[in-house]
Amino acid sequence: MKLQGKHYRTIWLDEADPRIVRTFDQRHFPFEIVEEPLRSCEDAAVAIEEMHVRGAPMIGATAAYGLYLATLAAPEGAAGWAFLQEAAERLRRTRPTAVDLFHCIQRMMNALESAADREERIHTALATANALADESAEQCRMIGVHGLEIVRAISERKNGAPVNILTHCNAGWLACIDYGTATAPIYLAHDQGIPVHIWVDETRPRNQGGKITALELQQHGVPHTIITDNAGGHLMQHGMVDMVIVGTDRTTRQGDVANKIGTYLKALAAKDNGVPFYVALPSSTLDLNLRDGLVEIPIEQRSEEEVKYVWGWKDGAIQKVLTTPLESPAANYGFDVTPARLITGLITERGICTASEEGILGLFAG
Ligand code: MRU
Repeated sequence: MKLQGKHYRTIWLDEADPRIVRTFDQRHFPFEIVEEPLRSCEDAAVAIEEMHVRGAPMIGATAAYGLYLATLAAPEGAAGWAFLQEAAERLRRTRPTAVDLFHCIQRMMNALESAADREERIHTALATANALADESAEQCRMIGVHGLEIVRAISERKNGAPVNILTHCNAGWLACIDYGTATAPIYLAHDQGIPVHIWVDETRPRNQGGKITALELQQHGVPHTIITDNAGGHLMQHGMVDMVIVGTDRTTRQGDVANKIGTYLKALAAKDNGVPFYVALPSSTLDLNLRDGLVEIPIEQRSEEEVKYVWGWKDGAIQKVLTTPLESPAANYGFDVTPARLITGLITERGICTASEEGILGLFAG
């Protein structure tokens, strides 16, 4: 996708020096486009932990390239393998909820285990990280192809009036490698001339909706309106939302979905108002080992600083402003779980299914 007219993926190898991986420091969006060079596995771990990069597929890809960077620093032989295991452990500790992180690390380690020597490890690591990124981009493209049909059907029912789609957080291309998950059907519909209008939840505390989804949509020319997190229910009650599409960080075997905090409330409001609620996900975000999302999905808790302060743009720089009594404690749950019963359907790279074990295994058995 494009930023300021230039085509990007979210993570790439430095053209001049293949020992450097490049990405965006997303903390600067939408005010500045700041590229960040990752020179070591620790750089990748910090970028994930401190959310220079974020979004489930993007976290996974950054970890994969982090392990590639680890192979460059690892010694020969058994010591090298121990070094990589430690690097993998460091990456696993960065963020707990998005399962793509763990899947990508496992895929990398499986590929690396049989490499004969240091040189082969480096080669295998880069090839596997590139393959994971390519796969992820293709999965998102296919989510767009399948999700488009839902948008098209609503558009036809509305005789071509704009389809109003509400989304939460950023499940766009900046959260992935390209296209996005929730945004892929939106971009495709827009590109094919189907009129859409997107309600963008601001998504406190880090404002990934108001800052990053809005930036993406604005750059692609998609009509959109930023709303406060509490506005969605009101809009649905007044017939102003035709469908909801969100992403997910982990979806269980029975179709429970962990996504950015506040997603559950949108699903409740959608159910109460008969608004279709879809979750877009690549198979990398499925966790078939878990069933009951409410009990089994680890929910990240982040610093209270994110709740008590906002980060905005003033005088040509990002400024941090306190918005609460300094002394008041704050709690910061990063994600919540939307039970399968509230979800109309899952849009995956293999098609659309119900949020149920039957539906998921129907597409992904084996
Ligand atoms: O905390 P974040 O910004 O990493 O959370 C991102 C989300 O909740 C996204 O909706 C999810 O990762 C899906 S990304 C395609």
